[in-house]
Amino acid sequence: MRVMVTGGTGFAGSHSVRAFVSAGHSVRLLVRDPAKVRRVFDPHGIGIPEADVIAGDITDADSVERAMAGCDAVFHGAALVEMKRKMAAKVLATNRRGVELVVGGAVKRGLPSIVYVSSMSVFFVPGCGPLHLDMPIAPGTTAYAQSKAEAEHTIRRWQAEGAPIRASYPTGIIGPDDPGLSEANQAVYTFLKQTGVNTSSGFQIVDVRDLAALHVALLELPSGPHRYAAAGPMHTWPETYRILDDVTGKWIWRFPMPGPLFRALGTVGDWIKHVYDFSFPLSRDAMEFATRWPGTSAERTTRELGIPFRDAHATYADTLRWLYEAGHLSARQVGKLAAPPARA
Ligand SMILES: NC(=O)c1ccc[n+]([C@@H]2O[C@H](COP(=O)([O-])OP(=O)(O)OC[C@H]3O[C@@H](n4cnc5c(N)ncnc54)[C@H](OP(=O)(O)O)[C@@H]3O)[C@@H](O)[C@H]2O)c1
Repeated sequence: MRVMVTGGTGFAGSHSVRAFVSAGHSVRLLVRDPAKVRRVFDPHGIGIPEADVIAGDITDADSVERAMAGCDAVFHGAALVEMKRKMAAKVLATNRRGVELVVGGAVKRGLPSIVYVSSMSVFFVPGCGPLHLDMPIAPGTTAYAQSKAEAEHTIRRWQAEGAPIRASYPTGIIGPDDPGLSEANQAVYTFLKQTGVNTSSGFQIVDVRDLAALHVALLELPSGPHRYAAAGPMHTWPETYRILDDVTGKWIWRFPMPGPLFRALGTVGDWIKHVYDFSFPLSRDAMEFATRWPGTSAERTTRELGIPFRDAHATYADTLRWLYEAGHLSARQVGKLAAPPARA
């Protein structure tokens, strides 16, 4: 298939592009910065012809049209993920318009396969039970969460009308080769660079490579709308730090903090943002996720599509090794992962 891709120079998007190409599909990328395409794909030996790199924006109808022309499938992985207060209106407007133009445009054209990246967090409300795809959509308390919730309502409406939209629902996406440091990778980086916090509930990750494999499977489904979760096993915070200890062979610093105190700090972070706006996710919303995540299961994804979700040890080891090799973390911080692999 010829797949029009948004977000191809981002984390989930770049891995999905690599997986689409490995599966024999060709891609047409709509990107804000064409120079970034070579930076992201050259190290992996993937050459994207210049004619298949369209400079533009998901909010610009003309560039979306140009990128979609001649394609028979669409992957919409772009979203503005930004936590600064002053960016709230832009986040809402960008993500809303992106879904309208990219997913809506593909629906209007009658394309047979449209893949959209949603989020498992669209179902989360503090105190809820384990998350699943038939739960009500939560309204969201930040502009980003609201934009994902709004998109979810729109997608569901089109799916109900029969549009072949296949949505993935990832938990925190972790893995190597992240062109920026996206949200969940940033959290892991912070645990190693500074410190972690041992609190209630836990951290549920999905390996970006498993998510990319799911996107290939969704792209290739023969017909109809579909929704599938993308998640590895749920690990409590103490389990998560033990895994990080295991893979690095070191003690990762963490201090205990009860969930209610951590959430109160998040509220303080929200107040501070009124005076000094910052992107770091110290907010009530982020602390609710960190301390009350109820977990979810992607067992149906594995059973029906044959997509396994790898063990968190492997994901964390590869991610930390890459954070070291890319210069984000020092040899001291990643411990034994800095050593070159032993020769057979
Ligand atoms: N990271 C997570 O843990 C997580 C969890 C659940 C769901 N998700 C969802 O997964 C998707 C991908 O997220 P990610 O973590 O891979 O984020 P990311 O690395 O920040 O990638 C976002 C991509 O969107 C592009 N983009 C942003 N605004 C754009 C615009 N106006 N026009 C064109 N492109 C634009 C970015 O372009 P540039 O390359 O130019 O920056 C980037 O390629 C998003 O829909 C996100 O909501 C992420």
